[in-house]
Amino acid sequence: MKQTKPPNFMLVVLGCLIPVIWGFPFGPVLDMDVTPRTTVHVNGLLGCNHFHGAAVNYSSLLLEDGPGLLYVGAREAIYKLDTANISDTNISFSLEWAASAEQKRQCLSKGKNNQTECYNHVRFLDRYNDTHLYTCGTHAFRPRCAYIDVARFTFVRFEEGKEKCPYDPTKSYTGFIIDGEMYSASQYEFRDIPDIRRNFPFPNLRTDDSPTRWLLESDFVGSALLRESINSSIGDDDKLYFFFTERNTEPTAYSSQTKVARVARVCKGDIGGQRTLQRKWTSFLKARLVCAIPDYELQFNVLRSVFVVEGSNVHDSVFYGIFGLEWRNVKMSAVCQYSLRDVQTAFDGPYMELQDSKWREYTGKVPDPRPGSCITDQHRALLLNSSRDLPDNTLNFARRHPLMSKQIQPVGGHPLLLQRSADYTKIAVQQVVGLDGLIYDMLFIGTDEGWMHRAVKIRDRVHIIEELQLFEEKQPINNMVISQKQNSIYVSAPSGLVQVPLSSCERYTSCYDCVFARDPLCGWDGRTCAEITSYANRSSLVQDVQMGSRGCTNITNDGFVMHRTRAVMAGDDVLLQCDIRSNLATPYWTLNGQQLQGYGVEFGYRTGNDGLLIIGAQNQQSGHYRCYAVENGVWVPVRSYVVRVQPVLPPASHLSGSPTALPESFFTTKTVPTPSPSSGPVEQILSPPPAQLPSGPEFQTYRHMEAMYISLVAVLGGLCLVLTVVLLYVSFCAHNSPNARKYSQQALSITTASERKRSSHFELKTISSHCNGRMEGRSRATSRDGEFLQIIQMDIQTTPSEEPPPAPPLPMPPPLPASEYANGLSATLPSVLRKMNGNSYVLLGQSDSEMTSPLYHSFTEELNRILEKRKHTQLDIQPDESSV
Ligand SMILES: *[C@@H]1O[C@H](CO)[C@@H](O)[C@H](O)[C@H]1NC(C)=O
Ligand SMILES: *[C@@H]1O[C@H](CO)[C@@H](O)[C@H](O)[C@H]1NC(C)=O
Ligand SMILES: *[C@@H]1O[C@H](CO)[C@@H](O)[C@H](O)[C@H]1NC(C)=O
Ligand SMILES: *[C@@H]1O[C@H](CO)[C@@H](O)[C@H](O)[C@H]1NC(C)=O
Ligand SMILES: *[C@@H]1O[C@H](CO)[C@@H](O)[C@H](O)[C@H]1NC(C)=O
Ligand SMILES: *[C@@H]1O[C@H](CO)[C@@H](O)[C@H](O)[C@H]1NC(C)=O
Ligand SMILES: *[C@@H]1O[C@H](CO)[C@@H](O)[C@H](O)[C@H]1NC(C)=O
Ligand SMILES: *[C@@H]1O[C@H](CO)[C@@H](O)[C@H](O)[C@H]1NC(C)=O
Ligand SMILES: *[C@@H]1O[C@H](CO)[C@@H](O)[C@H](O)[C@H]1NC(C)=O
Repeated sequence: MKQTKPPNFMLVVLGCLIPVIWGFPFGPVLDMDVTPRTTVHVNGLLGCNHFHGAAVNYSSLLLEDGPGLLYVGAREAIYKLDTANISDTNISFSLEWAASAEQKRQCLSKGKNNQTECYNHVRFLDRYNDTHLYTCGTHAFRPRCAYIDVARFTFVRFEEGKEKCPYDPTKSYTGFIIDGEMYSASQYEFRDIPDIRRNFPFPNLRTDDSPTRWLLESDFVGSALLRESINSSIGDDDKLYFFFTERNTEPTAYSSQTKVARVARVCKGDIGGQRTLQRKWTSFLKARLVCAIPDYELQFNVLRSVFVVEGSNVHDSVFYGIFGLEWRNVKMSAVCQYSLRDVQTAFDGPYMELQDSKWREYTGKVPDPRPGSCITDQHRALLLNSSRDLPDNTLNFARRHPLMSKQIQPVGGHPLLLQRSADYTKIAVQQVVGLDGLIYDMLFIGTDEGWMHRAVKIRDRVHIIEELQLFEEKQPINNMVISQKQNSIYVSAPSGLVQVPLSSCERYTSCYDCVFARDPLCGWDGRTCAEITSYANRSSLVQDVQMGSRGCTNITNDGFVMHRTRAVMAGDDVLLQCDIRSNLATPYWTLNGQQLQGYGVEFGYRTGNDGLLIIGAQNQQSGHYRCYAVENGVWVPVRSYVVRVQPVLPPASHLSGSPTALPESFFTTKTVPTPSPSSGPVEQILSPPPAQLPSGPEFQTYRHMEAMYISLVAVLGGLCLVLTVVLLYVSFCAHNSPNARKYSQQALSITTASERKRSSHFELKTISSHCNGRMEGRSRATSRDGEFLQIIQMDIQTTPSEEPPPAPPLPMPPPLPASEYANGLSATLPSVLRKMNGNSYVLLGQSDSEMTSPLYHSFTEELNRILEKRKHTQLDIQPDESSV
């Protein structure tokens, strides 16, 4: 059953939470909210292989790295794929396993959905013995299990599965086979009874439910066996750990929360009690997993996925958990790390006891041998060789005290990572050795919308190297396995399976890009960024995972500063483009070598991740502008511009859109060596000769007449534009879901005065735009924003061309370029609309394509492509790179 909450409760919760999450611009919450450094959309993926069979709902994955095979359980089918390339259908096999028509009919008659539930969803798939696999499926609400002959890839025997597999395909489930023993945890049977079981061999074991229920509506997300018997000085047993979320019955500081995250463990050698706890676990203990930010009373209590990283010494093992909030409408995830030692400490600590239907810490005498412990040398010395030999008082105590009092806090006391823009669903971890010889935990985290975050844990923080859109359609990532041999991670979702390389170093095109990425798998060899494992001699590679800033000495060797000249009329807006690919870099601008003092509107500037907008250019804003991308304290030059602001002629001062357009020859292109600081190759510099503007009384008259006419057109067009903008803005807000991963184009978007203040360069990464009170994600590129801008641009273009001004009788300069009207518009419209001055877009369109890596797919690029097309049709009538 899905959890449902009354909607007004949701609202209250949301209302309380929003100030908590959003109300603190600084402090630990924000610090932990990590922005992925780069964003890679599905068409920018490198080296990925996809698999889409005839089936849907790919969920169970069994990786066998030795023979290089990946077994995949889907809806009514099982596949055997080649791990080297899962797309290679030549080697893949499929095994159909559908529920019978009769079974589906019965399922329907039980009131189940024949579109989703009345199928055989394969939920369990594991190695049984050297020659066979074991699998279980929901089989249209009547679970079945089967043995598969691996060599022939056929079923050999079917058997009843209701004790081993849930009926409901959406019920969480975890389990594995080890040493010929099958363990599973789920909500079984039609009534969804939660249980942790040993399914075979005989005797089967399960949890107890009277007088104390050990599990309450538990949702199991993971399990692991840890071989704690190896080299144990006390003759300890191996242990199985199960991770889940369940209904909370303990007193809690957060009374609104009904769920709690848990870890439970049982001993592998447990065979149940003799009289008490017969065929039940005698070693079951559970404890609470805490993942919270106490300062903000923010408690992540829903565990969604766990990955256990085994240490070289099993006691040094750690595990990562992905947590969410109980309220489904609040998108927020946290990653917490725990150490096994802390879990052991909790299980060795005081118990909780149910007194008057309330759980309290038990302070009385604890029987000996200690209840819930595995059989160790200490027991054997007392001739207690197995759990059946345990005395009744120990077992009776164990039966009533499954819960430990001590809570398990995350390593460091706080989450490693918060994510406000995505719901994480699954985590996998791989340890890699960096160039510095340190071992790094790389985290691969799937989201509910088909994205994967690739991150690295550095000390007590997580750096997200990149976010990859693995599936075009939004869908939850439901499973992930890592193959060390293939250097790949296999990610499954309802629509299919994708094989993703563990790293894509070639995506980084410069030394700084490579070093800023902080990917322990990547290094710069002087020419390219490549996987460090591909080098036998790594002494000359550059990598800096710790700081992400050191090692690249030759800034000019990295990317060339583009030099451009812009000539503008005074009062015009001009955009100096400066694309910054990293979401973590901050653009800094200098004017004549001095850092721009203020970026606010009051200073005549706006900045965004795409460039600097000079608003209503003034004479004193002429000069040499340089754009730097500042990341990890390193200033990397990106662009440089010479801006010349031309004074406006007095009679036309009220209308900058007057016919002052000049022939193309106005600009000459010459090639000169680049000035300092760049010592890169020779580049093109565009610079205008002195302006020769037409003048004279006749001209002034026509100018005046036309100005009036244009004003009229402009006012009408402006009204049109305002309406369009309002419409677009409304629809943008209505369509844009709060989780959309988008850039808001800081320089160009329409914002209120208060927002404008906030959009100083310091806050670019954390700014949020509000649409009718709805939360937006961090500012990131949006194709929707792109459409938004693009359409407006079209509007500006079409308005004048539909109603062209009458041809003046006197000889005139060449036909009016569209941007002239745009300028005219800007003079008559409210100042807020001037941000959308056509010139900005024209200039944006003339981006320097040399700078754009083919691997870089951004909204700007999209926009550029559209504008590029347009440019080709208009170039002949338009002066280059100028609003004059
Ligand atoms: C199966 O996939 C479909 C879409 O392909 C999805 O709607 C459905 O929820 C999935 N069911 C399960 C149990 O994952
Ligand atoms: C994987 O196989 C597919 C189909 O045979 C092929 O198109 C693709 O290039 C292969 N991928 C790699 C990385 O070799
Ligand atoms: C399948 O593999 C065989 C042998 O490796 C090869 O001859 C054949 O062309 C392959 N077929 C396809 C469709 O790739
Ligand atoms: C599901 O059941 C309805 C009748 O309840 C039937 O019309 C429909 O065809 C069935 N769909 C499938 C896929 O069996
Ligand atoms: C593996 O298990 C299957 C099914 O029980 C059995 O038929 C087969 O003989 C076993 N193989 C080995 C090598 O034990
Ligand atoms: C167990 O101890 C032996 C000898 O001290 C050592 O060689 C071995 O690596 C240890 N095994 C594990 C898993 O720690
Ligand atoms: C336990 O094992 C020891 C030695 O293996 C044996 O002597 C003793 O009888 C066993 N005790 C019980 C209760 O089975
Ligand atoms: C590795 O390369 C460095 C310089 O590139 C050289 O000095 C060193 O001898 C090389 N080491 C080996 C083992 O080849
Ligand atoms: C730095 O760049 C210059 C010119 O691009 C090149 O000649 C020089 O070798 C580079 N130095 C290093 C250390 O890479």
